[in-house]
Amino acid sequence: HKDKITPVKHFILFYSFSFIVNIFPGVGLFALKKWMAGGVCRSKVRLDGKTVLITGANTGIGKETALDLAKRGARVILACRDMDRGNRAAEDVRQKSGNNNVVVKTLDLASLQSVRQFARDVLANEERLDVLINNAGIMSCPQWKTEDGFEMQFGVNHLGHFLLTNCLLDLLKKSSPSRIVNVSSLAHEKGQIYFDDINQEKNYNGWKCYAQSKLANVLFTKELAHKLQGTGVTAYSLHPGVIRTELARHMLPTIPLWKRIVYKPVVFFIKNPTQGAQTTIYCAVDESLQNESGLYYSDCARKAAAPQGLDDEAAKRLWDLSAAMVGLTQSQ
Ligand SMILES: NC(=O)c1ccc[n+]([C@@H]2O[C@H](COP(=O)([O-])OP(=O)(O)OC[C@H]3O[C@@H](n4cnc5c(N)ncnc54)[C@H](OP(=O)(O)O)[C@@H]3O)[C@@H](O)[C@H]2O)c1
Ligand SMILES: *[C@@H]1O[C@H](CO)[C@@H](O)[C@H](O)[C@H]1NC(C)=O
Ligand SMILES: *[C@@H]1O[C@H](CO)[C@@H](O)[C@H](O)[C@H]1NC(C)=O
Repeated sequence: HKDKITPVKHFILFYSFSFIVNIFPGVGLFALKKWMAGGVCRSKVRLDGKTVLITGANTGIGKETALDLAKRGARVILACRDMDRGNRAAEDVRQKSGNNNVVVKTLDLASLQSVRQFARDVLANEERLDVLINNAGIMSCPQWKTEDGFEMQFGVNHLGHFLLTNCLLDLLKKSSPSRIVNVSSLAHEKGQIYFDDINQEKNYNGWKCYAQSKLANVLFTKELAHKLQGTGVTAYSLHPGVIRTELARHMLPTIPLWKRIVYKPVVFFIKNPTQGAQTTIYCAVDESLQNESGLYYSDCARKAAAPQGLDDEAAKRLWDLSAAMVGLTQSQ
């Protein structure tokens, strides 16, 4: 007899068809999301007996990095400008990691005096420093100035960390092999260093200043690695990915509501802070990087920095300018 499509078969056919049609994009979407999540740090290295210091660790990528390193047994110092937020984060990290050796110290990178005082405290009270993670950052803020009159993003993202790193260098050397990790950004590719108007006083543009400060991170890693050759201290800079954190806090209010609604679905693909911390953790602990220094990473792998991030002469010039701006002397 002829094979007739019965209602039951029809039903099954219809549902398998719609299942396939629906599931493929669904699977594709999740695969895409997973791919967007990027690399994972697979190192199981323990950090018992080691000390790590993370700037801006009360939220976002910094806090997730702190949690991971605390789970590995390190003494973790959260350097935060707001002690209330810092203490709440520390309590959370202690609870989730089961490691009580997590402390908060006050550091405001927008004040050279605060940086010096913080560094004195660390030098006086810490026996060692194995990993310094320069993570704190501010993006695309209004035309604000630091306490010392520097453009805010260059001041916090670059100059504050420049002074901090230099003040802690001897302790890092004493604890070698040790590492310095700079959280930069893909934004450095759009950056240039405005040597003749470093504080962007004419024509302030928040994005340009962010890109300049992140390019400065890459150039400094380069110059620092050069200066640290043979000391056992290695330096890394990285792009963490695009992550759902508070970083856009100064930008969001300037975006019209309709755009925020239209772009809402995109958030599904944006990394969460745990995923966003992976490349920082990789640079901080992964054994495979022990003989590399001065390079740039993304998604837990080496990446070529933009050409302006490879310029030795600009790196040196920026170092000298920064040293003059923060009043760095040999003894610091
Ligand atoms: N999220 C991304 O998509 C993305 C992409 C590329 C690069 N990055 C980089 O990743 C790093 C971490 O950013 P995030 O996304 O985790 O941002 P976040 O959630 O805004 O965290 C930034 C941290 O920096 C601290 N901070 C800001 N100004 C400071 C100052 N003057 N002194 C001390 N601490 C200060 C903040 O403290 P308060 O909470 O007290 O303000 C906060 O703890 C930044 O360097 C950023 O440039 C992020
Ligand atoms: C990190 O960036 C800061 C500021 O740009 C710089 O002073 C420091 O030397 C850099 N360190 C590393 C390891 O890149
Ligand atoms: C780094 O160099 C040391 C000494 O040359 C060597 O023993 C070690 O295996 C190297 N590590 C890596 C990951 O290449």
